[in-house]
Amino acid sequence: MADKLKGELMDLQHGSAFLRHAKITASSDYSVSAGSAICVVTAGVRQKEGDPDTILLIASNPVDILTYVAWKISGLPKHRVIGSGCNLDSARFRYLLSEKLGIATTSVHGYIIGEHGDTSVRLADLNPKMGADNDPENWKETHVQVVQSAYQVIKMKGYTSWAIGLSIAELCGAILSNANSVHPVSTFLKGEHGIAEEVFLSLPCVLGRCGVTDVIRQPLTDSELAQLSKSAELMAKVQKGIKF
Ligand code: 2OP
Repeated sequence: MADKLKGELMDLQHGSAFLRHAKITASSDYSVSAGSAICVVTAGVRQKEGDPDTILLIASNPVDILTYVAWKISGLPKHRVIGSGCNLDSARFRYLLSEKLGIATTSVHGYIIGEHGDTSVRLADLNPKMGADNDPENWKETHVQVVQSAYQVIKMKGYTSWAIGLSIAELCGAILSNANSVHPVSTFLKGEHGIAEEVFLSLPCVLGRCGVTDVIRQPLTDSELAQLSKSAELMAKVQKGIKF
């Protein structure tokens, strides 16, 4: 085993006292993941077809496109291929919301939907004028801060890791505990909100042991619908160029 891999393994094992009991192993042969309840893919390796009721959780960027690729390559049903999507964007939005309102992050809720990152869409149910130029609360600026968050961290430390790791841990916890809780994750969108393309983008989804068990069909404003379908067209265009 390469030193780097062995070092990462030992470093994690040394933290075992801070974790619930977990068997921590490492290998350069991904078949060690066979039979896993969830495979979290943070780098682009091919999964073996036919893994038993595994759920693929994709965190690698561009996450919406790679979730589509994982779905096409794995042959798994669409509800068992999930992208971390806007779960972290929404967490960042909630953090900024809590700072702005002086309320605990756990007590403020809001969803960022659509494509993870630059062209995400915020939901205006807080304030109908949200994001509009005449919005007295200037929520548009908050959304800009959300989109810029990753770039700010990457500029300072070279990559993001803690928040995306906590975001993935929350999603794994929801799936493994069959929580049926709602999380904005990248899911198969064809047929939702009039989307005709086979694309993966984020909407609030119910997550349980079988993966995405339902999609929350919140009413979207015309502007939110327009932004969502624009993202869907962009994803479909990029996907057309992918050779399987
Ligand atoms: C993030 O948003 C880079 O997608 C990663 O932190």
